[in-house]
Amino acid sequence: MPGQMAMTDLDHFIIGLPKAELHLHIEGSLEPELMFALARRNGVALPYPDVEALRAAYAFSNLQDFLDIYYAGAAVLRTSADFHDLALAYFDRAAADGVVHAEIMFDPQTHTARGIAFATVIEGLLSAMAAAQARHGMTSCLIMSFLRHLTEDDAFATLAEAQPWLDRITAVGLDSSELGHPPEKFARVFAAARGAGLKCVAHAGEEGPPAYVSGALDALRVDRIDHGNRALEDSALVERLAASGMVLTVCPLSNLRLCVISAMDRHPIDRMLAAGLRATVNSDDPAYFGGYIADNYRAVAAARGLSRADLAQIARNSLTGSFLPADRIAELGARLDAFVLRHG
Ligand code: HPA
Ligand code: ZN
Repeated sequence: MPGQMAMTDLDHFIIGLPKAELHLHIEGSLEPELMFALARRNGVALPYPDVEALRAAYAFSNLQDFLDIYYAGAAVLRTSADFHDLALAYFDRAAADGVVHAEIMFDPQTHTARGIAFATVIEGLLSAMAAAQARHGMTSCLIMSFLRHLTEDDAFATLAEAQPWLDRITAVGLDSSELGHPPEKFARVFAAARGAGLKCVAHAGEEGPPAYVSGALDALRVDRIDHGNRALEDSALVERLAASGMVLTVCPLSNLRLCVISAMDRHPIDRMLAAGLRATVNSDDPAYFGGYIADNYRAVAAARGLSRADLAQIARNSLTGSFLPADRIAELGARLDAFVLRHG
């Protein structure tokens, strides 16, 4: 939200909607100011002289352009305190946008490959999650994402490292460079994760073709699809996703910044809803893509003329599509209904 502009009624409605964030890379919430502060704290050199120069580099033509900068930025994260500060800054910001529950992805391989212990990463994240619960009443859970440009053996090694914390990890995910790394490459490690009681999600159809979305359903047996935009190119697949009630975690500002769409007024969110898809709206990597979750709701509402009922449906999908226990979903759903009755 541009700081100098007054909040409109629609802004108040969007922020007030109790909502869950289901697609958020915690490393992608590293704001330039915190990146420089952590670089200083840890004696890490950054290839940019200041925050402005860094922000100016955030002009991406595709997913890989972004990933190169995103992995480089993560190098400032070295201690549990760094991961704690990163995640708590995100939770504070998300709370201000009406997020009542957040399912955050983290990429352990980005850190273990640099010699940072798995324990260092997860202990910092878990302590921030406890602080967010105490400070905001916000619940959260962890999605451990495998980097798909690495091998399935690497993913298996990560799953083995995670063993002592499996009761504090809710799901596994699949992210990084999509093209050339189809879901089938990770079928065995996802089966092992599912066997260990974890839920499964995967990025699919962001840049990859519709076959990667069906591959995520068939080979990975996912509980949610992250993005899923390109599923719209295959009407049989759209029917399958709609009939099965598959949740899509859509990220409009990410789609714009990574050139998945050419302009926000071309965003397919309303086509997804009209096709009966359980779409949600999320921020993906908010520090890199120019906005947090309410900015994403606002962007599609303005560009595609979404009604309050559409926005409430998107928020409802985020609650029912979460991995929360049924009683918490029911409690949050009742809060959403009461809010919509008063403000819809
Ligand atoms: N796509 C794939 N991998 C990612 C993304 C994304 O949008 N963000 C962080 N890792
Ligand atoms: Zn993502």
